[in-house]
Amino acid sequence: MATVSRRSEMTKATSSITIPVLLLGCGGVGRHLLHHIVACRDLHSKMGLVLRVVGVSDSRSLLLVDDVATGGFEDALLTEIFRLKSSSGRCQLVKGAEVTTNIIKVAGLLGKLTGLSVVDCTASPETVHMLTKVIDFGCCIILANKKPLTCTIEDYDSLISNIRRIRFESTVGAGLPIIASITRVLGSGDPIYRIIGSLSGTLGYVMSEIEDGKLLSEVVLAAKSLGYTEPDPRDDLSGLDVARKALILARLLGWRIDMDDIQVESLYPKELGPNSMSTEDFLRTGILSLDRGIQERANAASSRSKVLRYVCVIEGSRCQVGLQELPKDSPLGRLRGSDNVVEIYSRCYNKSPMVIQGAGAGNDTTAAGVLADIVDLQDLFH
Ligand SMILES: NC(=O)c1ccc[n+]([C@@H]2O[C@H](COP(=O)([O-])OP(=O)(O)OC[C@H]3O[C@@H](n4cnc5c(N)ncnc54)[C@H](OP(=O)(O)O)[C@@H]3O)[C@@H](O)[C@H]2O)c1
Repeated sequence: MATVSRRSEMTKATSSITIPVLLLGCGGVGRHLLHHIVACRDLHSKMGLVLRVVGVSDSRSLLLVDDVATGGFEDALLTEIFRLKSSSGRCQLVKGAEVTTNIIKVAGLLGKLTGLSVVDCTASPETVHMLTKVIDFGCCIILANKKPLTCTIEDYDSLISNIRRIRFESTVGAGLPIIASITRVLGSGDPIYRIIGSLSGTLGYVMSEIEDGKLLSEVVLAAKSLGYTEPDPRDDLSGLDVARKALILARLLGWRIDMDDIQVESLYPKELGPNSMSTEDFLRTGILSLDRGIQERANAASSRSKVLRYVCVIEGSRCQVGLQELPKDSPLGRLRGSDNVVEIYSRCYNKSPMVIQGAGAGNDTTAAGVLADIVDLQDLFH
């Protein structure tokens, strides 16, 4: 097992709860999570809570405290963790296949002793089996990563087999309380019969700009330069990320469906896809051929006093992702910019749906959502 000689001097207040945290993935979201944990020390202390970070991994390596049962990285080390990971000397790193073996070892140990929160801030589909084992050891898991929840229904069932020990708020709408709100509504016996949402900040922005008469190509290029899109904007325009979020919501409603059951409308045809042309060619020439079609659809919607939005719809037996004409005066119709908006319809929220709106992406916001999930699990720790 990897060791780090420096250990935190954290002392546990008599009445405090300690949550050991093992972080998978230290990219944009993971790094911000470490920052938030350090920044919230005083706040958490007032709440009687200590977050003890025992391990941090990326795709190749894992850095662990020497004594996972009682130790935690000190704050200065947390803030410098990536610099230290690439240095040698005081840190011994676990690499390759040993990473998974060691995480499972730690989960086995802490699952029995104090419990452990394993936080998945990767974008990998490969963490699912490890997470299932971690849950079996009695540990908790918190996900920003959508992929473990959008794998096969069997894997999904295993993951959520103990629903009290899993949180995944940030997988849909980043820090927005979408999952929590749906769970509350369902738990009150109020059946949800329709969810419709704009769950991509990029596509929300793109569609509201198109409503103002701009061309798809010019808006996508502007969005890319503002950092709103993925490096290859086709990752946004394909609708696949929205489909993953739709699947998470549909499964939350109890639907036993897979990704293949979702109708997904991509905003570009196969011949303009990554297998046929480079990102540069798509942005230089390919995307121009999409302008007219989208413009005509936006104009047609406008002539019916509607607007075009890229949404997911979960209703009846339909889980669909794509362009829809929506009333201008609805919450989704009024959407401007990159906010996420979700309308939830149930018996109680019938004529007037529950509406959740706000920033639905960003490392800072997403990490805050993950931290809130960790804190929400505190009652399971002693
Ligand atoms: N950023 C947002 O606005 C946002 C919003 C909601 C949800 N999310 C989700 O949050 C997750 C993280 O996003 P991000 O923007 O932080 O991604 P990112 O910057 O690409 O970071 C991903 C991290 O995961 C690591 N990783 C990959 N495979 C791994 C594995 N098998 N085990 C351990 N670590 C692994 C990567 O390590 P290497 O560097 O070694 O490859 C990298 O450190 C994603 O699933 C994303 O969809 C993000």
